[in-house]
Amino acid sequence: MTSSSPPTLNLVSGPLADVEADLLVVTCAQDETLSGKAAELDSATDGLVKGLVASGSFKGRAYQTEWIFPAPLKSRRVLLLGSGKAADLDLRTLRRLAAAAVRHGRGKKAGRICLAFDPPLSLNAHAVIQALADGAVTGLADSDLYKDQANKGGVSEVSIWTADTGEAEEAALQRGLKIAEQINFGRWLGDEPSNVMSPERVADEVSRRAEVLGVKCTVLDEDEIRAGDMRSLLSVSQGSARPPRVVVLEYRGGANEAETLAFVGKGVTFDTGGISIKPAADMHYMKYDMCGAAAAVSAVFALASIGAKVNVLGVVGLVENMPSGTAMRPGDVVRAANGKSIEIINTDAEGRLVLADVLDLARKRGANKLVDIATLTGAIKVALGTAATGAMGSPQTWVDTVVAAADRAGERLWPLPIFPEYLDQIKSNIADVMNTGGRYGGALTAGAFLQQFVGDTPWVHLDVAGTAWTEKDSAWQMKGATGSMIRTLIELADPAG
Ligand code: BES
Ligand code: MN
Ligand code: ZN
Repeated sequence: MTSSSPPTLNLVSGPLADVEADLLVVTCAQDETLSGKAAELDSATDGLVKGLVASGSFKGRAYQTEWIFPAPLKSRRVLLLGSGKAADLDLRTLRRLAAAAVRHGRGKKAGRICLAFDPPLSLNAHAVIQALADGAVTGLADSDLYKDQANKGGVSEVSIWTADTGEAEEAALQRGLKIAEQINFGRWLGDEPSNVMSPERVADEVSRRAEVLGVKCTVLDEDEIRAGDMRSLLSVSQGSARPPRVVVLEYRGGANEAETLAFVGKGVTFDTGGISIKPAADMHYMKYDMCGAAAAVSAVFALASIGAKVNVLGVVGLVENMPSGTAMRPGDVVRAANGKSIEIINTDAEGRLVLADVLDLARKRGANKLVDIATLTGAIKVALGTAATGAMGSPQTWVDTVVAAADRAGERLWPLPIFPEYLDQIKSNIADVMNTGGRYGGALTAGAFLQQFVGDTPWVHLDVAGTAWTEKDSAWQMKGATGSMIRTLIELADPAG
């Protein structure tokens, strides 16, 4: 059950009055004077926009909407969409506004929608087109997978108004579309419930898509995982009736001698906590504990789909964390594939046990640089809330590079430290490390733990526990998986423009 096919995207230019669509969406800023597209619409409608603003009913606050219907234009229906203060308008908001626009249009059964937005001149025009295309396609993907979709309406075509409609603009449009399609795939994996998305099923969905995109895909089954000495990962899956999988994706679009960047993901298809079982109240959310893995594979797929000239690996560990007679116990000691011994203090700190082995596998498969992505700790939600993803790693220059990519991609990423004190917190009496470090600094002791498995390879850990899922419906997306950090990984590997 995948989401419906994306709309056709194209670029349009010329006077707004000549645009022929079922719905024309025009942004209007929260500023003193009307300008740009809103001003043009105002003249084309004999002062309708000024009238709405003067009446006080429309202020242009971000995501505020006002219908103009019927409009005296070729597009009979117009939606005024507030874009907030012009000075605050960034790529992230533009992307979300585009998503909100298509969602509103779909609600009115508009099949062909035209977006006439006013991006600030300070933003790169191609990056804007990419963001709008991205928003138009990600905006139409919903998480209500098992409800009747019959009355939803179908958006078949989205046109984006731009001053220039040349080859570079068309390329930006296609880039946005292709990235968005893979983001929707990753979100879909996260939204599907855990009875459906078992480790095996995720691996199947990923290999099927890899084949379509021409990405090399290797799936390791339980025996092969054991043969690879990945006993830390296996300690998590051993309590489940469902066997684990490790998936390795390899896309080589770059020169042979060029470096290989690996995206390494935590794919816990359901996290009960194991014997250190979680409370019942919010446990159902733990179906999204595989969003790191989903992000890693989506990013590789997107890079393949845009034909990026880079070499990337996607390495994800897929397991289910269950309590049972075969489950790992607190106090157990296991040896990870890199030879380090781990004392398992809390079976609910399972994500790091999975990552320990897949990080090492990524290095063995030739990664020169690592980024792992994981819904790793509740503590990151305490630290940063749901507003930002946390970044830890070494060397700091590599962390800075990833943070800068997030900034360009319009995603919030915030650097956090791995001080030597955090390593002290995870010293074990019996083994090299413990898998937990006590109450304080939970996101950071997790970072210190992962660092034991990356050797001297530049590495950044992204904790998306607070950002991979949203519990709130918004104008731009339904509650559910968000696809957090996929855009950042793509921008990191293949900077746009
Ligand atoms: N999957 C959870 C982290 C999580 C919590 C993700 C909330 C999304 C929302 C992880 O496996 C976990 O259980 N972490 C524990 C670690 C603790 C036992 C050291 C946590 O954060 O409580
Ligand atoms: Mn857990
Ligand atoms: Zn988990």
